[in-house]
Amino acid sequence: MRMKEIELKFNVRIYPSLEELPAYAQKLILLAREAANRAYAPYSGYHVGASVLLENGELITGNNQENAAYPSGLCAERTALFYASSKFPQIAVRTMAISALNGKMLPGEFARPCGSCRQVIAEYEDLSGTPIEIILDGSSAITVVDGIDTLLPFRFKKEDLGKSDG
Ligand code: THU
Repeated sequence: MRMKEIELKFNVRIYPSLEELPAYAQKLILLAREAANRAYAPYSGYHVGASVLLENGELITGNNQENAAYPSGLCAERTALFYASSKFPQIAVRTMAISALNGKMLPGEFARPCGSCRQVIAEYEDLSGTPIEIILDGSSAITVVDGIDTLLPFRFKKEDLGKSDG
């Protein structure tokens, strides 16, 4: 086979202000911001909050939890998703919002989940088979994507383990 080049396309919606988002999304962002304010981040000073809307209507929040032994801490997104899954196993995640309010965010920047959190978001998306809408709060706009493929293309999947069921 000869080398071929493919182009991947995805849509990103950029909202200039909170008020332009649907009500449920506004609520999620406000919850994520509140959660960011409660983060335990004495080492990095980077306060992250995440909120999750489940298919059953439940709202779950989480924030980053740091530790003197640095790798023992956990990101906001995983704190929220693991809590959601522990409390409501098998209930699909519909939408997730992520906020980072630390005064360090540069103009035009938005909260970007780390690679490990993207992989964890993908796990729950694959579990339900429905894309998770991801809302990224920002200093001057709010960015929305319609599934983890946009943030983590060519990701590792359970199929790579030779397993196709849970
Ligand atoms: N952090 C998150 O909570 N989420 C991310 O996706 C990126 C990083 C946290 C982890 C750590 O407490 C701090 O931000 C600095 O990396």
